[in-house]
Amino acid sequence: PVKARIAVLAGDGIGPEVTEQAVRVLEAVAAARGHVFTLEDALVGGAAIDATGSALPEETLAACRRSDAVLFGAIGGPKWGPSAKVRPEQGLLALRKGLGLFANLRPVTVNPRLAGASPLKAEVIAGVDLLVVRELTGGIYFGEKRREGASAFDACTYTEDEVARVVRVAARLARGRRRKLTSVDKANVLETSRLWRDVATRVVKEEFPEVVLDHHLVDSCAMQLVRRPADFDVVVTENMFGDILTDEASVIAGSIGLLPSASLGEGTFGLYEPIHGSAPDIAGRGLADPYGTIASAAMLLRHSLGLEREAALVEQAVARAVDGGALTADLGGSTSTEAAGTAVVQALESLVAVA
Ligand code: NAD
Ligand code: IPM
Ligand code: MN
Repeated sequence: PVKARIAVLAGDGIGPEVTEQAVRVLEAVAAARGHVFTLEDALVGGAAIDATGSALPEETLAACRRSDAVLFGAIGGPKWGPSAKVRPEQGLLALRKGLGLFANLRPVTVNPRLAGASPLKAEVIAGVDLLVVRELTGGIYFGEKRREGASAFDACTYTEDEVARVVRVAARLARGRRRKLTSVDKANVLETSRLWRDVATRVVKEEFPEVVLDHHLVDSCAMQLVRRPADFDVVVTENMFGDILTDEASVIAGSIGLLPSASLGEGTFGLYEPIHGSAPDIAGRGLADPYGTIASAAMLLRHSLGLEREAALVEQAVARAVDGGALTADLGGSTSTEAAGTAVVQALESLVAVA
């Protein structure tokens, strides 16, 4: 049995709704397999701004630092507009940076039962199994920003080391899969992209000779992603391109509510969150799809706690819940957030009983 501490940062909007279901699943895993998970709630985002004035209170960062992993819901909302001085999003960015989580893994797969939830043709999305590795602590997100009179400025910088370490993560993952790595940049325009391309080429050639690397320009990649998504294996790209391409890729899976992510650094510690936001348009109504957050909890079990079997069990339980027709509104059904969580917990319990 494993003993672990998990910080739970539910955040804003649908964040607490989807996180609650993922916590139920983690508790069911612990009960079924004799593990002891100590969960600690902490404030982040708009909820933290309202309570403390800061989007990432010291106490929250400390709670994350004394944990083995962080389960994160979502932050943001119309109450804390983009032009406010303190914004919820700053809390998430500071957390990623402060915890050194430079590699964000965003897997995209297709459950055949959900083929109808995607506007793409069934034959286009059949068999898709791709993984986007998004650089998470550099680029234009973290460069100097200023506003002067009628102009605004956002610097985009990357160092060779920042590129090399995330390319290594992606290449290592590609080596364990179909050995295809696509590096995405805008090297025909951006200097940071030319550096990115040079470093990716060198790292893969010198350290991962068995991995086949190709380079795509981001605009054409955005097109290929919906035209021939099954052609991709591992995609590695800079921070903002990865943000945009993965919202696009969620359309392949059927809904943005389904996609999980893991944000990793050098060790086993990680932060796990769905790729979607706080969805203010549906918050508080029990409509949110919790599967992306539950799948993020599976990634937590796998990467931070070394519980591969339990992770696979949670993933199978989600697939069973979906196959059994527990579909939230985004998937074309009318199952509530809580009932979807219950369907996963029940599937998990019956899978454990059989095993
Ligand atoms: P969003 O991802 O919150 O919502 C986009 C659309 O997808 C909405 O129509 C929403 O209802 C739907 N959707 C999202 N998650 C869903 C789920 N689990 N189930 C069903 N439908 C779902 O993006 P947005 O509306 O552009 O952003 C809202 C706020 O969230 C902003 O403040 C933004 O900064 C923030 N945001 C936070 C994160 C995060 O915490 N990691 C990520 C993205 C956006
Ligand atoms: C995401 C979100 C965040 C990002 C925002 C909320 C800062 O869109 O996690 O994808 O852009 O990284
Ligand atoms: Mn995003």
